[in-house]
Amino acid sequence: MVARLTPSASGPQPAFLAACRRQPVPYTPIWIMRQAGRYLPEYRKLRSKVDFVALTRTPELAAEVTLQPLRRFELDAAILFSDIMTPLQGMGVALDFAPGPIVREPLRTRAQIEALPPLVAPRDVPFVLQTIRLVRSNVPRGVPLIGFAGAPFTLFCYLVCGKPSKEFAAARAFLYSEPEAANLLLDRLADAMAAYLRAQAEAGAQALMLFESWAGLLGAQEFRRFALRAVARTLAALRTLDVPLIYYANQGAALMDAVAGLDVDVVGIDWRSPLGAVRGVLGPAKAVQGNLDPAALFARPEDLRRHVDVVLAEAGTAPGHIFNLGHGIWPDTDPDAVARLIDHVHQSTARHPVGRSA
Ligand code: CP3
Repeated sequence: MVARLTPSASGPQPAFLAACRRQPVPYTPIWIMRQAGRYLPEYRKLRSKVDFVALTRTPELAAEVTLQPLRRFELDAAILFSDIMTPLQGMGVALDFAPGPIVREPLRTRAQIEALPPLVAPRDVPFVLQTIRLVRSNVPRGVPLIGFAGAPFTLFCYLVCGKPSKEFAAARAFLYSEPEAANLLLDRLADAMAAYLRAQAEAGAQALMLFESWAGLLGAQEFRRFALRAVARTLAALRTLDVPLIYYANQGAALMDAVAGLDVDVVGIDWRSPLGAVRGVLGPAKAVQGNLDPAALFARPEDLRRHVDVVLAEAGTAPGHIFNLGHGIWPDTDPDAVARLIDHVHQSTARHPVGRSA
């Protein structure tokens, strides 16, 4: 097994946190988006007895599901088991999961937007804060815990459309037809997610990630005017915390110029753009996270290793790469392929440690 810690001035630091801070690491750390979930038989077993919302709102169960993949695999980070819509549900937005989020009364008017209350974490999401405390006191190997939230524009998409969609037509039309009301809703969401993430860090989350799952719906101008403006507001409110901040932009290759200006430690990216090109645009002051196609886990073992090597070569030898998939793992993935992926990333990078020359 590979050593799990890398030294730093303030004592040993887990490789994941060192990589977020662009410090040298003894091997490339890896975690997997949606690592707790339906591809794991132990998750499906629990889920057959408890519905998804109850899982997210019962700290003992949410902590158990968070830890399931950590017991099975040598992952370098845990991610809180919850959903991007959970804090909105806590704020009183009525919604169901089927399995994607369905908002009972989509937000379409200024009056509805103005009625959205601010988020008060201990009142609205006490179960999330308690889950974080439970995970921190039970996590194996001192693995760090990532807290997360949806980025404001991605939450906006679900709130305005009311359900998952390919095009999110109503949400995008709203940006053009009611730009002031749209920005009001985005500001409210930005402030709510800032309060939510701050509370997660105070409860023990050691890194914070914002998921912009629908970045790729927008052209560069609208992305800057709406999505980026709002997420910058969230990030600015979190900068006084001493935890790395991660921004994941799905289908965001064409937006990396704009993302380069964001005050964030790590940028996560999908598999459609090579990491070398992404790093070139983002510059040396940001770490990158990604970006193996989730479909690659269906390759033969020797081919999977080859696909992983391509991602590692693209990431290069400068410090600041966290290996991940380019988007969430698919529910029909074989867990043994995940174990092979993690082993290969650790073993091949331990022979060629990252950032030694920097
Ligand atoms: O392991 C982890 O990554 C932590 C758990 C997690 C879930 N949702 C659990 C979940 C995280 C980080 C999320 C984030 C999330 N939720 C995003 C952003 C990341 C991304 O994938 O782009 C988005 C867009 C959602 C909205 C959402 N929630 C969808 C579209 C769905 C249904 C389909 C799907 O992909 O699973 C959900 C429900 C959901 N969230 C499930 C899980 C495990 C499935 C619920 C079930 O067990 O039936």
